Amino acid sequence: MSSTQKDKNDIHENAKEYYGNTLKGTKDLKTNSCCCSEKPPKYIKDIISKLHDEIVSHYYGCGLVIPEELEGLTCLDLGCGAGHDVYILSKLVGEKGKVFGVDMTKEQLEIAERHKEYQAKVFGYSKSNVEFINGYIEKSSDIPDNSIDLIVSNCVVNLCPKKKDVFSEAYRVLKPGGEMYFSDVYSDRRIPEKLLHDPVLHGECLSGALYWNDFLSLVKNVGFKSPRLVKDRIITIENKDIEKKIGFAKFFSATFRLFKIPDFDNTDGEDYGLKVCYKGTISTSPELFVLDNSHNFVKDKEYSVCSNTFRILNQSRFKKHFNFVGNFETHYGIMENCSVKIPFQSLKNDNNNICFCSGFSQDEHNQNFEKEFYYQNTYYPYSQEERRYNYQFIPEWYNNSYYYRTYPFWFKNSYY
Ligand SMILES: C[S@@+](CC[C@H](N)C(=O)[O-])C[C@H]1O[C@@H](n2cnc3c(N)ncnc32)[C@H](O)[C@@H]1O
Repeated sequence: MSSTQKDKNDIHENAKEYYGNTLKGTKDLKTNSCCCSEKPPKYIKDIISKLHDEIVSHYYGCGLVIPEELEGLTCLDLGCGAGHDVYILSKLVGEKGKVFGVDMTKEQLEIAERHKEYQAKVFGYSKSNVEFINGYIEKSSDIPDNSIDLIVSNCVVNLCPKKKDVFSEAYRVLKPGGEMYFSDVYSDRRIPEKLLHDPVLHGECLSGALYWNDFLSLVKNVGFKSPRLVKDRIITIENKDIEKKIGFAKFFSATFRLFKIPDFDNTDGEDYGLKVCYKGTISTSPELFVLDNSHNFVKDKEYSVCSNTFRILNQSRFKKHFNFVGNFETHYGIMENCSVKIPFQSLKNDNNNICFCSGFSQDEHNQNFEKEFYYQNTYYPYSQEERRYNYQFIPEWYNNSYYYRTYPFWFKNSYY
């Protein structure tokens, strides 16, 4: 066995020991990294109140990994532990849905298995819809390609020595349009490898944490080209001994959603003039659907979206809840308000005849021109011809605000 392989096995063994024997329950955790401070919505709280005490007292998750619209889905929980999230999903997918949980620690799985029939009965099912698999999430060979609608995982990937394998496997088993919705711990820098071998730093989900930027490139490389951050919080550790060893870095608990969309654009923010409108038909979100931390869709309101957001909504289980407008015929460059910016510095000196929105008079508008043009370092790549053509103010009253038409967008009468 090569020394690297041995190191990887040691890392697995450390996590098994930590979650199988060292910790006897949530109360034994030494930091607040594997703690979920998020308040679940009422419909999930009600399900948690129906979980067996032993399952709840062995919960080591760092976030809430239950997205919306689950009825009838086939789900997979990577590193399911004692089954806390598996059983929440079990209720939400309904008796016809199915939930698999994979974990490598037998003591955790024994707890999960022990309450299978109990939970089926509590949920009113004639037969349990969950199945636990003892194994490594780096190789889910029992699970066929393209067979899973939703993968969840809660505070697990950081513990895995082969993180790329975990995401490649997730991509393999997801159906096209399927989603991985998961919480994990991330760091603000690369953590020195030697700290991986400290059993407490590793077991407490700190020293194995991915540096956030490595995480983003890793998942994009395996095919999840448009990772979406849903929520995050800073981990405060709250343990002086541990802070002494690893306090040089900052840690975050974050929930991301990764969709398997085979024809994703390689880059986010591409503007094809596409629009979507949420119908308000998801029962748990009748007024507002939150896709991620920068995409909230109010019912019945039309939103311009980039090509990848359009595809996520149009090719996933959310399709039936949206109306879609547009096609991919004309590309207008990068979306305004997008985190990705056009890089060319020369645009800064090329500001003749450009008109952008505002709620100002035309004089005021001209005075504020520079400010607007570079507002939040965003600039707007129109051709000269388009700029001349669009240099006009035609106010339109819509939704309690004036909007100005500057082809091809409508801008609101304020800085945005
Ligand atoms: C922090 S606990 C979280 C457990 C569970 N998700 C929860 O929220 O309670 C991490 C779990 O991941 C499992 N785990 C870690 N690495 C794994 C791997 N490579 N394959 C399978 N399970 C793994 C551990 O056995 C442990 O049960």
